[in-house]
This record gives sequence, C-alpha cells and structure tokens, in this order.
Amino acid sequence: MRTETEQTIYLKDYAVSPYRIVSADLDFKITEADTRVRAQLTIEPNPGTAAGTPLVLDGDELALGSVAIDGAPLVQSAYAADATSLTIVEPPLRRFVLETEVTIKPAGNTKLMGLYRSGGTWCTQCEAEGFRRITYYLDRPDNLAVFKVRITAPQAVAPVLLSNGNLIEQGDAGDGMHFAVWEDPFPKPSYLFALVAGDLGSITDSFTTASGRKVDLAIYCTHGKEDQCLWAMDSLKRSMAWDERRFGREYDLDIFNIVAVSDFNFGAMENKGLNIFNDKLVFAQPETATDADYDGIERVIAHEYFHNWTGNRITCRDWFQLCLKEGLTVYRDQEFTSDERSRPVKRISDVVTLRAAQFPEDGGPLAHPARPSQYDEINNFYTATVYNKGAEIVRMLATLLGEAGFRKGMDLYFERHDGEATTIEAFLAVFAEANDVDLEQFKTWYLQAGTPRLSVSDSYDAASQTYTLNLKQETQPTPGQPEKSALVLPIKFALIGPNGSEMSWTGVTGGDVRQDMIVLDAASATITFSGVPSKPVPSLLREFSAPVSMDSALSQADQLFLAQHDSDPFNRWQALQDVGMGLAVAAIDGTPWSDASVKALSQAMAETLASDTLDDAFKALALSLPAEAQISRTIGKEIDPDRVHKVRKELLKAVFAPLALEMLNAYLALSSEAPYAPDAASTGRRSLRNRLLALMVASDCAGAVGLAAQQYAGARNMTDRLAALSASTLAWTPDAAKLLGDFHANFAANDPLVLDKWLAVTASVPEDGVIERIQAVLADPGFPKTNPNRLRSLMGSFTLNNPTQFARADGAGFRFVADFVAEVDKINPQVAARVLTGFRIWPMLDQSRRDAAKVALGGLQTKGSLSRNTADILARMLA
Ligand code: ARG
Ligand code: ZN
Repeated sequence: MRTETEQTIYLKDYAVSPYRIVSADLDFKITEADTRVRAQLTIEPNPGTAAGTPLVLDGDELALGSVAIDGAPLVQSAYAADATSLTIVEPPLRRFVLETEVTIKPAGNTKLMGLYRSGGTWCTQCEAEGFRRITYYLDRPDNLAVFKVRITAPQAVAPVLLSNGNLIEQGDAGDGMHFAVWEDPFPKPSYLFALVAGDLGSITDSFTTASGRKVDLAIYCTHGKEDQCLWAMDSLKRSMAWDERRFGREYDLDIFNIVAVSDFNFGAMENKGLNIFNDKLVFAQPETATDADYDGIERVIAHEYFHNWTGNRITCRDWFQLCLKEGLTVYRDQEFTSDERSRPVKRISDVVTLRAAQFPEDGGPLAHPARPSQYDEINNFYTATVYNKGAEIVRMLATLLGEAGFRKGMDLYFERHDGEATTIEAFLAVFAEANDVDLEQFKTWYLQAGTPRLSVSDSYDAASQTYTLNLKQETQPTPGQPEKSALVLPIKFALIGPNGSEMSWTGVTGGDVRQDMIVLDAASATITFSGVPSKPVPSLLREFSAPVSMDSALSQADQLFLAQHDSDPFNRWQALQDVGMGLAVAAIDGTPWSDASVKALSQAMAETLASDTLDDAFKALALSLPAEAQISRTIGKEIDPDRVHKVRKELLKAVFAPLALEMLNAYLALSSEAPYAPDAASTGRRSLRNRLLALMVASDCAGAVGLAAQQYAGARNMTDRLAALSASTLAWTPDAAKLLGDFHANFAANDPLVLDKWLAVTASVPEDGVIERIQAVLADPGFPKTNPNRLRSLMGSFTLNNPTQFARADGAGFRFVADFVAEVDKINPQVAARVLTGFRIWPMLDQSRRDAAKVALGGLQTKGSLSRNTADILARMLA
C-alpha cells in the first residue's frame, strides 16, 4: 500500500484559500548578522468567505517581531504563530493591509531554500515552498500577487541588488548601506520570487523582440568568470528567437537577468525576470567544460527561459499539477535542441535518459503518476516522471494531433489561460477543443504510473498476401495502483520490404491505422494488412513515439536488417541496441552467444562505422551496447550486478575487439587541429572519436591504453581529456590511478566544477577500494559538505553509475550510502533524499543483496529525527 502519514496532502482536498494576497510590498534589510524582512501584504477575502474565518499564513524558521493590520499593531490574542504558520484569528472581511516583521538568518541556512548565502552572495530559492522561509505568506502557487521589493544592504559586500521585474529606484542609505527598489508588474506566485545581493561581475547584451522591443540581458557571476558566461548568453538569445518563431511567444519585460551561484539544490530556477542558476549550468570554456556541459547549458538556459510562458504567465493551480509546467517545458526545450542541432541524435539521447532515469523510477518502489494524487513532501516529486515522462506525454499529444493541431492547441492555451494558475484538465481541454477530439482516455497517461509493456507478434500469409500484427499492452501494478487500464499508444510504424524500402498495403482491418501511425487504445489489437506482396519486417515505435517498453519478436536477422535499412534513424539505432541486449540477456540467463550471432553484430557495427551517410554523432550513439543498468532492468529480477558487469564486458570485447584496426583508423582520421567549437558537427566528431577510444580501451585492443594516456596528456579541451580519463578508469587500466591523480593535481584542485568531474570519475570506478577512496574524500576537512554539486558528483555517481560497488553482495555499499544520508540529512535534506533514491533498484536484486539493502534501509529508519524529505523516500522504499 501507499504510505500515509499525518502530513499527507491529497489532490482531492484542494480548496480555494479563504483569503488572497493581491500585492506584496517587501522591505529587506540585509546585514552580515541577519536579515530583517518587513512585509506589507494587501489581502482580500475571497468570495464566500464567512466573517471570523481565520487567515493562516505559512512560515518556516521565521523569528516574528511584530504584526499589524492597517497600521494598528495586533494584540497578543489576535494572532498565533507556531513552527509552520501565523494565524490571524479574526481578520477584517474587507481589503486590508497586514504588516509583519520577521528576522531570518541566511548564513546558517544550509537547506538552501528561502534566502541563503552562497559564497558571500545572498540569493533565494523559493520553489516549491521556500518563500515561507522568508516571510509569512500564502505560499501556494494559486495566489498571484504583484510584488514591490526594497533591498537595503552593505554597499561594500553587496554592490549588486536584484529582484524580479524592473528597477525603479536606487540610492545611498547611509552608514555604508545602499538600496534598490524593484517592481514586477506581472502578478506571480511566491515560488517565482527572487532576490540577489552580492559583489558580482556581469556580461550584458540585448535582444530585440519580434515586435521591436529592446530587452536588456545580463548574466551575473563571480568576478573573473565573466568570459565563461558567453555561451550561456548566446544560448539565451537563440532561445528567445526560437520561442517567437516556433510558438509565437515574445518576452514581456524590458530586463532579463540571470545570476550564477555555486550552492544550489538543483539545476536552475525560472524566477520572473531573474533566473537563478547553478553555476555549473552557466560557466563554459573549452579547457574546463565538456561538450556535455555546453549541451546542458544550452538546454537549461532554454528551459528556464521557456518557463516564462509555460510556468510563469501560466502557472500551476497546486503542486500536483507540477508537470503542467515541467513536462511541457521539457518538451519545449527538447524541441529547441532538436531544431538547433540534430533531431534524431537528440531523440536518441532523450530516450537513453528516459530509460536510464525514468523507467527505473516507474518500475520501482518510488513509482508515481506524472500527476500524483498525494504527496508527503513536494520536493520529492521533482522527478524524471514529472519532467521526462511529462515531456513524453506532451510529445504523444503532438504526435497524435500533428504539428498544426498541436500548435492550435498551444495557441488556445496561451490565449485562454494567460495570467492563470491552472490544471492538467484545462491543458488537455484546449487541445480537445481546438482539434475537436476526445482526450478523456489520453488523460490516463497523467494519472497512471508504470511503464506499459507493448508485446508484438506477427504473421504473414503468402497465399492471401495478408500481413497480421498482434499488439498487446500491459502495465504492471505500482504502489497504490493495483489495477491498470489501457492507454492510448501512438505507434509510428512502417512495413519494410525485402529490398529495404517501405511497402504499402491496399486495405487494413482490426485497428486504428492512420498512414504512418497505429493508435492502440485497447488492451490488444489484431491488425491485418491486405495487399502486401511479400513478408515485411515491421519497423515499430518509430521515433520512440510512446514511452513504453517493447518486446519485439523480431529475429536477430530482422533486427540487423532494420539496422541497415530502416529510414527512421531512431529505429536503426534501436535495432542495434536490441541485438546487443538480446545477446547479453541470453548469456546472463545461461545461453552463451554463438560465434555467428556475435560476428553478425560486429559486422553491423563495422558497417555503421564505415557508413558515409550516417553522421558522427549518430555513429557514436550506435556503436555501443546497452548499459549495465539497462540490461539489469530488462532481466528485471534476481539481479547479480557482478555477473551483468562481467557478461557485458565480455560481449563488448567479442563484438568490438575484431574491429580494432577499423576503430584505430577511424579514430586517427577524426583527429582535428581546429580550435574548440561547440557546434553540432564538431561535438559529433569528438563524441565519435572518444567513443572509439573508450571501445578500444574496453575491448583491450593493442596499444589502446597508451593511446588513452596520450590523448589525456595532449588534450586541448576538457571533452577529450575527460573522455581519455574515464575510458581509462572505467576499464581500470594500469595507468588509471596515475591519471586520476594527475587530473586532481593539475586540473581539479583549483576549479570546483572540474573537481566535480574528478569526484564523479572517482566514484564510478567499478573496482574494490572505491568506497574507501570516497570515504577519504569525505573525511578531508576541506571537503565542502554543504555544497550540493560536490555531494551529488560523488554520491549520485556512486549510487547510479557504479552498480557493482553500490550493490555489493557484502552490503558495504548500501551501509556506506545509508550512513552518508543520515549525516547529510542534517545539513541539506533535499540532497540526502535525492541520494537515497539510488536504493530504488533493491527489489530487483538477488536475495543476498535484497537482504543487505533492507538491513541498511532499516538501520536508517531507526535513526529517528529524519527530515520529512528523507523519511518520505525511506517509507516508500520500504513499503
Ligand atoms: N522549476 C525549476 C526547473 O525545473 C526546478 C525547481 C526545482 N525545485 C525543487 N524543489 N526541486 O526549472
Ligand atoms: Zn522546469
């Protein structure tokens, strides 16, 4: 069963607040010691509120000074404050101004929610419920108010004072203090509030919108890092132009500011007109950032910018609707990248991410619907399901409605709901209305957890020239949802004829077939195509048109045929993956591969590498075997990660060692003397070259170890250097320890973002001794246990990328992580809870490992006084 506690919040209990705050006038006085916040909130009763209904404002770790209404201080009996709220016992039943004064301590705020200090800079993070740590408020997304913010701070330590909207006044405040006043004309929920005060450098630029308005752009950062913000600025301008082109959305203020900070709980935050970013998603220069970093910056800058319309102008009624803004905005940033770079490569990478991050969530103890119906702690629902599956759901909508139909729905969404806090139902309604379709069953995608399994079989009757496809969908029970219903699956497809080209048919019965798409909305369907002159090979789920896991009954020969002939690049890639998966899974189950079958895969890989039509980035993705975690998930139960690791390694060797010469020649031919550039072609070239290096090292090709060391030493950018390092450490070559040490001393020691790379590589080494090495890093008194990036690089990598060591049979990995979670939970509950989610694989492990995981998790449970974040994950993990 689903866990229930007294804190559980239910969607069904949603109710409009009896009062609303229409405007907030905030006055911050920031000093080194603490911050005083005076709030003047203009409040009105909502229609229907009865006289005498108390007003309950949220608060957390606030020291209350005074309370007044319309200028008159309240007597003690007129209000009550406790650890989570301030109650005004009997507010006037008319518009009034509530004035409160509180004191907060940003320097001691290690949870990094509310107002805190990062490297001397005061900054805020309010989503989801951080604003209540700044002042007493109706801290819920359906309360939209206009904000005016006065910031007073010491001029010397905080020459830069920022908040949302427009700067309307600034000046000297005496005693070494100065002030600034910001006003945001757009009504917004409190989670979009932001404030920054610090000594920061900046770069500036401008963007002229389609209607000719000039917007001043600035990115603020630590002094000396300005040059590293140029890629982020470039990405921002391209994002602004793209949203105009693709969705007709213009920016709406005259200023757009971004601030990079070093201590941040996640990637970035879309506060109105003042985005705050984790600096790892802003800073880029070739010597310290990899192609993946450049990619992440472009993507997240776009994501936060796109939130201005999908999130800010139209926000969420309540936190259950989180994927209304997140799923949609991820879809939008995916489309941006697809348009700016390679659509097929982007699609494959997104599916790799979905399978690595979301499928395990959906198939484990933490499974939840994209729109959950209950939560204990909302911060635990910023998940791959809400974000990535949420984006897949929007993508299916676009697939079903077609580009024009989807755009019509989006236009209506913006037109109808601008300025509102709304719901998934309202979102679906605009698409239904604009396209005159019924989306009632489609909505189940938002409500039902679990990854549907799509099983396919087929037959061909030569006499009648008919081809039959049998499709069946099934979703396994998930926590709290024993029964599952059939979903609407858009299955893009083609029938491929013997010569490799697509076949047509003259008639079709038994299913909803629309040109290149089957829409399966029942538990099963038998679809018969007539007038099919010879037996086709079906190419199903092209572009990965639905987030399902598909069991196809194709033979290895048919899969290899698709790998060679399919005109859908996604399925070409998928076909090669399927062959590798088939061989790995069978071998782990005790059926070793035949020489012929490995040879066939090897041959297909060689052809892929040699192709002069496929691009480098695609080849880099195709020349791979499914990851260990993927293989384990496919097997699904009684997993022994050591065996998975060993078999995969052997298979890799068997497939790629015979290609040693081809790989080396291709590797050498891809070398380039051109200066680093982050464009798609250069990135693709590096990714293929580095993929080949990794394959040569992992499959023990002669000379590969030395080649990696040579590339490491001679690299002129971080992409190539890090690739050489991790190829060496993952295979734990004789050079690996030395290279790791060198990387630390010469690159990581003085740059925290490069240190993160060293931490991640260190924690991913699949060898005994890694736990001791991580423990030594953590024990170093200089290691910042308050910085989320450092902790995640180390522990996130260990739990997610090092299955043989995390899930050690002796339980040492589990015990180590459980102890870490207990310790860090006292500092930063969000980081602790996130690391704990790594345990979600435990139910599919073998008996001894399951027992070990249960002991470790049980031990954590007896610790007591865990944060709500960690307690919630733990309870679900053990339910
Ligand atoms: N809205 C932000 C984004 O996706 C992320 C905020 C994450 N908040 C949290 N409490 N986990 O762009
Ligand atoms: Zn977002």
